[in-house]
Amino acid sequence: MRLDKYLADCNVASRRESKKIIRTGVVTVNGEVVENTGENVDEKTAVVCVNGETLFYKRFVYIMLNKPAGCVSAREDKRYPTVLDYIDESYKPFDIFPVGRLDVDTEGLLLITNDGKFAHSMLSPNKNVYKRYFAVTDRPMEEADIEKFAAGMEFKEFTAKSARLELTENPREVYIEIAEGKYHQVKRMVDRVGKAVNYLKRVAIGPLKIDETLAPGESRELTDEELALLMAIKEKKMDKEIKACVFDLDGTLTNTINAIAHFGNEALVKNGFNALPVNDYKRYVGDGRKVLIERILRANNADIEANYDAVCADYDAGYEADPLYDTDAYEGIRTLLTKLKKRKIKLAVCTNKPDNVAHDVIRQIFGEGVFDFISGVIDGQPTKPAPDSALRAAAALEVTPEECVFIGDTNVDIKTGKNAGMTTVGVLWGFRDYDELNEAGAEYIIENPKELLDLI
Ligand code: URA
Repeated sequence: MRLDKYLADCNVASRRESKKIIRTGVVTVNGEVVENTGENVDEKTAVVCVNGETLFYKRFVYIMLNKPAGCVSAREDKRYPTVLDYIDESYKPFDIFPVGRLDVDTEGLLLITNDGKFAHSMLSPNKNVYKRYFAVTDRPMEEADIEKFAAGMEFKEFTAKSARLELTENPREVYIEIAEGKYHQVKRMVDRVGKAVNYLKRVAIGPLKIDETLAPGESRELTDEELALLMAIKEKKMDKEIKACVFDLDGTLTNTINAIAHFGNEALVKNGFNALPVNDYKRYVGDGRKVLIERILRANNADIEANYDAVCADYDAGYEADPLYDTDAYEGIRTLLTKLKKRKIKLAVCTNKPDNVAHDVIRQIFGEGVFDFISGVIDGQPTKPAPDSALRAAAALEVTPEECVFIGDTNVDIKTGKNAGMTTVGVLWGFRDYDELNEAGAEYIIENPKELLDLI
C-alpha cells in the first residue's frame, strides 16, 4: 500500500496532509527516512514511524458494547445520549458507527465498527445471522407460541422469517432468535401472540455471545477469535448454485466515464452549451442515454424538449465513431471473466447503452466469445431497472433468474437484479458509493473483482 494511505489509515492526518508530512522527512519505514509519498509499504510487516513514534496500522475497528437502556443506536441524537457516547474517545477518529439498531430501552450486545462491508454482512438477511434476545414478558409465554414464531409472521411492511422461541423454567422469561432486525421486531412478534415485552436484552449475534463481564455501558474490542467467527460469516459463499453472471457494463466491467463525459461535452459545446466536469457525469449516468442527455441539458438550464434531439444525435455520432475512446476494462476484470468461464459460469452483459454501441465496445475490449449474451437498449424496449433485459439474458443462457447473479455499480443495477429475481452484488470500483448500493438493497457489496469468485 502507498505510504500516504498508510498514514491516513492510521489517522495521522488526511491523505493530502500525510503527503506533506512525508515530504518533510519525518517519516521512516523500517528505519530509513522515506520522502516518497507513494512508497510501497507492507502494512503487515513494515515498521513506520512519524517523528520517531511507531504507528500501529489499523484500518478497521470492531467493538462490542453492552448497550445500556436510555441511549439510542445512532451517531447523533437531539434527545438521548447515543451509543457512541459510551465508546472511548480514542476511537472517534475512526469514524465508527453502530451495526444496526437496538431500541432505546433495549440492552445488550451491539457491535460498533467503521467497516461498512462487515456491518452490511451482519445485517443482510441473506447471511441469515440470527440475533438472540433474552426477553421478560408481562404474561407467561406458551408452548403454542413456539410454532407461531417458527411459522414466521406477516406484518404490514415486512414478513418476519421463521423465528425461534425458547421457553425457560420461568414462563415469563424466554429466548427469541430472529434473522432480521426490523423495527421493534421482537416486541411486535411477542405482541402478535398476545403478550408484551417488559425487558429486552440482546445476548448474541450469530456465533458471538455478549461478554457477561461487561457492565451496561462498558465496551471492548473484539478478540481475534471473536472477529474470526464473524468474518467467516462475512465471507460465506452464496448458498445456492449460481450458473450465470449478468454484468452491467459502464462502471462495472469498463471504466467509461471519461468517454461518456467527452462525447457528452462535445455534443453540448457543439450545440452552444457548456461542458460539465467529468466527475459530475458519475451522477448523470446509470439510467440510459436518454436520461443522461436530459440530465446534462438540465445542468445547463437548457430547454430539454427543444435541444434533446440535436444533442442526442451528436452524442451518438461521436460515440459510434470512436466507441473505445479512453475506455478500458477495470483492473482485475479480465482475470475474473477468465476464471468464471473456467468454472463454467455463463456470462452476460445487460446495459442501458444502445445495443450496437454495447456490442462494439464489448467486442473490442474483451474480444469475441467472452460473453454468451449481450443486451443493450433497443429502441422501444424497456430499460433497466425494468427486469426485461436481465430476464432476456437468463432465457438466452438457459438458466433461471434464481441461478443468476446481477452485478452492477448503481442503484438502478441493484433494482434491476431484484426486479428480475436474481441475487444482487454491488461493486464499489464504479461510479457510485456504498450507501447508494446498500440503500438499494444489494445483498452483497464488493470492493474488488476477485471477491466475486469467493462469493459464488
Ligand atoms: N426487537 C425489538 O423489538 N427491539 C429491539 O431493540 C431489537 C429487536
